[in-house]
Amino acid sequence: MDVYGLIGNPVGHSLSPPMHEAGYEALGLDAKYVTFEPPADEGAAAVEAADKLGVAGLNVTIPFKQDVLDAVDPDPLAARIGAVNTVDFSGETPRGYNTDAVGAVRALDHHGVELSGTAVVVGAGGAGRAVAFGLADEGMSVRIANRTASKAHALADEVPNATGHGLGDFDALLADADVLVNCTSVGMDEDETPVPKSALTPDLAVLDAVYSPIETRLLREAAAVGATTVDGAWMLLYQGVEAFELWTGEDAPVDPMNEALRSGL
Ligand code: ATR
Repeated sequence: MDVYGLIGNPVGHSLSPPMHEAGYEALGLDAKYVTFEPPADEGAAAVEAADKLGVAGLNVTIPFKQDVLDAVDPDPLAARIGAVNTVDFSGETPRGYNTDAVGAVRALDHHGVELSGTAVVVGAGGAGRAVAFGLADEGMSVRIANRTASKAHALADEVPNATGHGLGDFDALLADADVLVNCTSVGMDEDETPVPKSALTPDLAVLDAVYSPIETRLLREAAAVGATTVDGAWMLLYQGVEAFELWTGEDAPVDPMNEALRSGL
């Protein structure tokens, strides 16, 4: 049996176990997905221990995504993002990937969104970094807007074809944009939106990384103006799908994984 898992602190609410196990079941794989909650300063040690124990693969979440870089050989995208959310133990040394970036790209792709032109990424934290690099790698120009504008400028200096902005002028940022991704936590706890409705256009594809609630105010308002909407569960699904495929070498059974994920939300 292959053992896969997630390290995070806390991990209690994670939807990754049912999502991955639905994938193993659909493909008839003899595998199990479990969660581990190491102490907050032991991320790299936990990866080394998992390697010694013969764990086949690990997902990594808050607060360990940066720390585990010390325990893995990161692929070039994960190295540029500076964060790892997936570790593969099948090689000589543990290999680190960042499937959050590809997760956003594949979530948009699943909805027929063409990844060319200009993307506006709101948020310059961990999620914003991954999504900005992911969309830039697809060839998009990226406008990064963040409440703390200096963080947006600093990130834009690292991402190819990117510019940094504050949150003040969404009309100008979105007027000719093709894709909008919310990577802030706004919309999670309260029915708020980081982007005023008046700046949304029907030509936009809007992805919200927030998946709880699944229907955020941003997505409701985007749908109301006729924009294409993609909820955060698609991004969560595709970061898992990408990890599943890296680990197993098989095409992931997307539909059962999606059903398992959504039934847990
Ligand atoms: P994550 O890993 O989910 O990206 P994070 O790294 O803590 O989490 O980043 C949170 C993001 O949400 C940041 O871009 C943050 O903006 P600041 O850099 O200015 O803090 C943004 N954010 C959080 N609360 C916000 C709010 N009320 N309004 C606007 N942006 C907010």
